[in-house]
Amino acid sequence: MFADLHNLSHHAAWRRQLEMILESTGEGIYGIDLKGRCIFINEAGAALVGYTPDEVLGRSMHYLIHHSHADQTLMPVHECQIYRAFREGRGIRVDGEVLWRRDGSSFPAEYASYPIRDGETVVGAVVTFNDITERKRTARLLQEAHDQLEKRVRERTAELTAAHDGLRQSHEALRRLSAHLNTIREEERRHIARDIHDDLGASLTALQLESTWLRQRLGDDPALRDKLDGMLEISHHAMEAVRRILNDLRPGVLDHLGLWAALESLLLDFQKRSGLRCSFDCTPEVERCRLGRDAEIALYRIAQEVLTNVSRHAMASRVEFEARAEHRDLLLTVTDDGQGMRVPGQPTSFGLLGMRERTLALGGSLNIVSSPGAGTRVVLRLPGVFA
Ligand SMILES: Nc1ncnc2c1ncn2[C@@H]1O[C@H](COP(=O)(O)OP(=O)(O)OP(=O)(O)O)[C@@H](O)[C@H]1O
Ligand SMILES: [Mg+2]
Repeated sequence: MFADLHNLSHHAAWRRQLEMILESTGEGIYGIDLKGRCIFINEAGAALVGYTPDEVLGRSMHYLIHHSHADQTLMPVHECQIYRAFREGRGIRVDGEVLWRRDGSSFPAEYASYPIRDGETVVGAVVTFNDITERKRTARLLQEAHDQLEKRVRERTAELTAAHDGLRQSHEALRRLSAHLNTIREEERRHIARDIHDDLGASLTALQLESTWLRQRLGDDPALRDKLDGMLEISHHAMEAVRRILNDLRPGVLDHLGLWAALESLLLDFQKRSGLRCSFDCTPEVERCRLGRDAEIALYRIAQEVLTNVSRHAMASRVEFEARAEHRDLLLTVTDDGQGMRVPGQPTSFGLLGMRERTLALGGSLNIVSSPGAGTRVVLRLPGVFA
């Protein structure tokens, strides 16, 4: 099978050794002379292209197995990388071409070609080649699996994004609804407060005036006087109750004197009713600022809820209220020295939830700092209030 092996070695034993090595490898190996004619090929190489070594020897390897591209268009000799490489006296390695079998079929091949030198002169080339159908198939399957995976990831991401958008939209809608309901509730409260004030308040005042008039004209009958005094006291209590209810519904001081006076009076009232020591600390800069009707009523309701929570849950002895400016932000802090609590990551109870929603609707943030045994601090920050 070696046509011109004396170019490789003149030594018979050495030739034998080489022959054994060539026949033992699974790779195809052939040699060509400068005209591209096969000067040797091993069994494995010949079998890969469907020949016996003897059938290949002396034939142009390019026209035999490397004549066309994978798409069957002809590959002219001057384009053949094997030729080009050994003419330029350098080695190459290629894995993107096909080799052709005797039966006209082709297979994807990887081949390497290196020039055979006799001293300084290149006398041919030795080519090793392999059928890489399996490797290509595995690579293709891998690529397909990868593409499939990417497609699934894209689809899944799109689904998740859509679901997330949907959730965000319904969340925003709920938030708007909650803010709207709060506005409506405050409107209704104002309405009811006005009706109570105008109807019930006016009637009670009239009743008191009439009773007083009557008392002045009563004779000396002590039983009648006692009765009338009793009636006057009842109407006085009723007036007190109406005032309290009106204040709960819509603190008049909020409308007339503003948020800070209303909060101070709320705290004074709370101190009287709860017996806790309360302090109110509001800087002059804050006292001068008005926030608008909706924001003021929202902050007032939040403060009411904070104080209600203190009296219901904290078992505290002190409450400190502080309002100050921090850069352009308004900072409200209510601190109690009570039993504290474990703060939930997301509030689920309606008091805390309402406070948070009202704050968010104002564009602010609410932070509750507390732990069991360490009191509670509610910090509300409204950004950009001060110029
Ligand atoms: N200042 C506080 N000190 C200790 N625990 C508190 C304080 N404020 C709130 N909590 C705890 O947080 C919980 C949630 O408060 P939240 O105001 O949301 O609900 P609530 O007061 O129980 O009911 P409501 O819906 O009537 O307000 C309370 O049940 C209480 O355990
Ligand atoms: Mg509460």
